[in-house]
Amino acid sequence: MTIHRLFPTLFLVLASSLLFLACGDADEGGAGRSQAEIDALRGKPGGLSLAEIKASLAEPGAHESFVPEAPFGITSKLAELIPADNPMTPAKVRLGAQLYFDPRLSKDDSVSCATCHHPDKGWTDNAPVSTGIAGQKGGRSAPTVMNRILHPTQFWDGRAASIEEQALGPIGNPIEMGFSAEDAATKVNAIEGYRIQFERVFGGPATADAIAKAIACFERTVITAGAPNDYYAAAKPWIGYEPSESEKKNEKLMARRDKALAELKAHPISEAAIRGRELFFGKAECSLCHVGENFSDELYWNLGIGMDQEKPDHGREDFTKEEKDRGKFRTPTLRNIHLTAPYMHDGSLKTLTEVVQHYNKGGTPNPWLSTDRIRPLKLSDQEVADVVTYMREALASPQPAIEIPLLP
Ligand code: HEC
Ligand code: HEC
Repeated sequence: MTIHRLFPTLFLVLASSLLFLACGDADEGGAGRSQAEIDALRGKPGGLSLAEIKASLAEPGAHESFVPEAPFGITSKLAELIPADNPMTPAKVRLGAQLYFDPRLSKDDSVSCATCHHPDKGWTDNAPVSTGIAGQKGGRSAPTVMNRILHPTQFWDGRAASIEEQALGPIGNPIEMGFSAEDAATKVNAIEGYRIQFERVFGGPATADAIAKAIACFERTVITAGAPNDYYAAAKPWIGYEPSESEKKNEKLMARRDKALAELKAHPISEAAIRGRELFFGKAECSLCHVGENFSDELYWNLGIGMDQEKPDHGREDFTKEEKDRGKFRTPTLRNIHLTAPYMHDGSLKTLTEVVQHYNKGGTPNPWLSTDRIRPLKLSDQEVADVVTYMREALASPQPAIEIPLLP
């Protein structure tokens, strides 16, 4: 497998149509369009001509497999997280991006994946619960699509075993996109710009399986960048540390120290956030569950969210059929959490302060509460504020450099 660098690749993948439009040598449609005109076409059917699609399929390297480069702070080997039967190629990612942003994947052309997982909203919809076709509301809040490459299971209750499997869920869901994956494939095949891409990338017309694979490939490029917390963790051992004489002579070691300290300077973290960090990993016990590179143990817990409602969402129990899983939901990532309010599976907590107060009071009592880990924390108001500052500031990172594509 060829290893490319993440950002140049993404640039190649997602900006290439834009690039040759800007060069003005496309023989159909593209030439002469201003940047503003191109931007106005993004995400709308018909913005991308057949000539542009053929040119991008013929670009050097378009069908070579690549592995995104893990940003600072992500330690997993991403190559191991890409399924063998769905290698990533620039052409497949590009196709998946178009499908992800295309409302024609819904029954009435009104809803795309991005309707509920939009890049401008932290890849969510910033609503308590999502609204699908014909204004219908679902029962759960849309989680972010960022960093799904890092985790095998999908959905709040973990019922999908891969991103590929997950992608077919919303298309067929009557209140999300209201369609079936097979009908979506028929519709996609009637659009020539898509058909030629599926022919070249998958060797045949669009199928439910191929649509899922292309979208999953695109989703695997939605990766967060290094956050102040990552740079602080790397620099921490060196802060205020006076190297010994022999350490000072170790050039490699000193270069590592200088780099870590310089990176921290470039990605600073406030005193309040450092206090919040100590609490997060200590007295506030957040890292019991929000642990590792993506701040999730990928396990299921009952915090009592919504359990005081008349008809509570039983969460993981609906999938496993075991009462011990009642009201349990998967621990979500906290990277870029400042972008994805409101919070929890039902969107019932509006702010990060409300979230920390929920933990501080020991959750909402119910017979299935995960009492081994959820108990009153006795945090002062200042401590609650510090934990919030830590999440808001130190877990924030630049958004993945992904532009909404032009569509066939
Ligand atoms: C109408 C809104 C809506 C649409 C449209 C939608 N989703 Fe979702 N998405 C949700 C909700 C709500 C959930 C959580 C459902 C659950 O966990 O039971 C979810 C869950 C997910 C997850 C799981 C994330 C995680 O943390 O486990 C992924 C990935 C995802 N959607 C991707 C997509 C893709 C790809 C599409 C388009 C094919 C799409 N979604 C269309 C609302 C939507
Ligand atoms: C027992 C495991 C556990 C502990 C301890 C824990 N969390 Fe959580 N966290 C979860 C689970 C599970 C959810 C989702 C619950 C739900 O929606 O019902 C969650 C949700 C969240 C959310 C909302 C995320 C979103 O996308 O909506 C935030 C923010 C959060 N936790 C922060 C914290 C902080 C801060 C602490 C420490 C004070 C903490 N958590 C302690 C398991 C835990």
